[in-house]
Amino acid sequence: MKKRLIGILLCIVMVASVLTACGTKETGGKGGDKTIGVCMPTKTLQRWNQDGENMEKQLKAAGYNVDLQYADDDIPTQVSQIENMIANDVSLLVIASIDGDSLGTVLAQAKKKNIPVIAYDRLIMNTDAVTYYATFDNYMVGQKQGEYIEQALDLKNAAGPFNIELITGDPGDNNARYFFDGAMDVLNPYIESGKLVVKSGQTDFATVATAGWKTENAQSRMENIISSFYADGTQLDAVMANNDSTALGVTNALTASYTGKWPIITGQDCDIANVKNMIAGKQSMSIFKDTRTLANQVVKMVDAIMKGEKAEVNDTESYDNGKLVVPTYLCEPVFADVNNYKELLIDSGYYTEDQLK
Ligand code: BGC
Repeated sequence: MKKRLIGILLCIVMVASVLTACGTKETGGKGGDKTIGVCMPTKTLQRWNQDGENMEKQLKAAGYNVDLQYADDDIPTQVSQIENMIANDVSLLVIASIDGDSLGTVLAQAKKKNIPVIAYDRLIMNTDAVTYYATFDNYMVGQKQGEYIEQALDLKNAAGPFNIELITGDPGDNNARYFFDGAMDVLNPYIESGKLVVKSGQTDFATVATAGWKTENAQSRMENIISSFYADGTQLDAVMANNDSTALGVTNALTASYTGKWPIITGQDCDIANVKNMIAGKQSMSIFKDTRTLANQVVKMVDAIMKGEKAEVNDTESYDNGKLVVPTYLCEPVFADVNNYKELLIDSGYYTEDQLK
């Protein structure tokens, strides 16, 4: 009798503890036991580290588990990271692609398993597996770079001619085309009228592209241009560089071999090395894309999708990936230069003053 009673009591305790454990799981964070796979292209560029950190921090704060991977700018590595995440049944994928055109096959697997996909910053092309896209207004980034040069050289009024060179990003990154077109829509009329002269003659997207957005590739192209067209003292007035890693290559090349008056140089990202160059007068401007804002918007998208709701978007027309027009949220890029960097970057807590010394 006593034994039976002890047995019954033990059973009650076991059932109660199982129920408690189940309860804990269900009432855990907002995201419960859901894991979000976050794929970033590389650790070598400052911004992607910030993007990854912000995404991880904000997703965890919203109660999700996070599997964050960086792919060393290597396409097969990124593909196999995504394959593993799919095999591990992540609830959703957030992907900043290395090459927008290389993920169709792997994302077909995600679609089969009903795993939603958010294209982060860079659009993923030619697949119907992309659910949403979140980015900064890429065309506007280029436009602001072009307009900066237009104003700095007073192209509307000055007689010119002025010499300019052009440099954009990786051809596999869909954004590069938008940045370039945004800038060239401002600059082209001046090139056509002869007020702006591209001495190298290199003006088409393919020729001015920079593989992997790499500083060293931009630098060697610029070194060649300087030695062929500006070594005799010809003045270079401006370089339209579409981002900071390429602008850094331009600055390095000029420092090594250019003797004329320092040209206007544009950029994008407000990377620390480039902000330091802005303070030192070696880069004229950059575009600030607050990665905290983008991460915040993407976490809101994740939350909406996980709840079976529609996510907030503000563009349903511009981003056709070849298979569908992907519903997009565009964050606004901001102009930065030596006059406003303190307010934008330090007062907002993006960098500390010491980081920029
Ligand atoms: C991003 C830029 C970045 C570039 C190189 C682009 O897709 O939008 O912010 O500078 O990639 O990483």
